[in-house]
Amino acid sequence: MEGLGDARFRVALAANGAGGFDEACREFIRIPGALPNGADPTKLVKNLCANYDADELRFNATARVPLGAQIMGSEPWLLELAARHLATEKSAPRIDLNCGCPANVVTGKGAGSSLLRDPEYVYACVKAVADGARGSGAHVTMKLRSGYDDSSLLRENLLAAREAGARFVSLHARTRAQGYSGRANWEEIAFAKDVLDIPVLGNGDVTSPQRAAELLRVSDADGIMLGRGAVQDPLIFRRIAATVSRDAQGVVRVSDDVFEREFEVELVIDFLRTFAAEVFKTENKPNGKRGSGVQAQELETFKVGKIKSIVKYLFAGNPNLLPHMKSVMQLDPTKTSAEDVLRTVETLVRAEWQTPQNVLVDAFSKRNQYT
Ligand SMILES: Cc1cc2nc3c(=O)[nH]c(=O)nc-3n(C[C@H](O)[C@H](O)[C@H](O)COP(=O)(O)O)c2cc1C
Repeated sequence: MEGLGDARFRVALAANGAGGFDEACREFIRIPGALPNGADPTKLVKNLCANYDADELRFNATARVPLGAQIMGSEPWLLELAARHLATEKSAPRIDLNCGCPANVVTGKGAGSSLLRDPEYVYACVKAVADGARGSGAHVTMKLRSGYDDSSLLRENLLAAREAGARFVSLHARTRAQGYSGRANWEEIAFAKDVLDIPVLGNGDVTSPQRAAELLRVSDADGIMLGRGAVQDPLIFRRIAATVSRDAQGVVRVSDDVFEREFEVELVIDFLRTFAAEVFKTENKPNGKRGSGVQAQELETFKVGKIKSIVKYLFAGNPNLLPHMKSVMQLDPTKTSAEDVLRTVETLVRAEWQTPQNVLVDAFSKRNQYT
């Protein structure tokens, strides 16, 4: 997610005061639609999966958030090989098949949400992943949108996933054609619950405990998956876990926010510091070389850029912080060190932090990147 969907962001979210989620999934590993000429398939898959680390969110002997792997592709035998490698060599607890990515560069090659045009193809691909994971203990799951151009095949696609061995599905209740426009249609999650006898996680536009509760009320989903909301509110999972519950009659209730302002501010600062500590571990800029003063400056610029990338979203949902965004973005890494940028941001958060409002960070959709 624009430099945020990397290990540093996940670690900062899961560590210290943030957390509150049961499990996370890494961004997709793209498996090619055909074996490149002369390539050795085993080596290819090994290289593609090299950066996946099932223990990325293990903090000590007892504190661990399971991290699933996600693969995206359209060639069943290569998907099977990748799933086998992830399950047996990399100990992935879960392997998710991406049937949601709407990017043309992906769908043009038949992967991601393109699979949803043909339920038989969905079946073949999920089955390939299940065959690859068989006997390993890794769960196979599928992430999907409600359809490609429309949701007319939703039922068939859901059933195909289940027949092929998916243990649960996560449904982003928009079609590929919708991109990120309008609101996610949570009724489609309710539909998936009616169709399936395996768990359904609802996804799309959850930015607060109130919206999490509303999704659960509308759909009766077994759980919630969320993406963009966590970029602007690192406490969102914890906030939801602490305040949203079902009573004995199954009625979804939201209690008052559990955080005192001061406590909340400290948690956000914990998150920022953990993120920065992960960034500061970087010894050489990706693609850069070690050594000279110029390269040291490049590294500092990289670190400042990473902190700014967090600030952009953290400040977006906070009316009191928003006016300070520009001044932070203008900090010049040749004049202000990453440590000083972090201190400036901390001071602002301490003075101005408010519980984020229901604002969806929509910079992604405007850039037409993942959309
Ligand atoms: C920048 C960006 C990167 C994403 N990367 C992935 C991905 O690798 N795999 C995936 O299944 N979904 C990915 N998604 C989609 C999200 O998982 C989620 O389905 C979508 O953002 C809607 O949920 P939200 O409203 O909670 O953000 C990505 C979304 C964005 C904005």
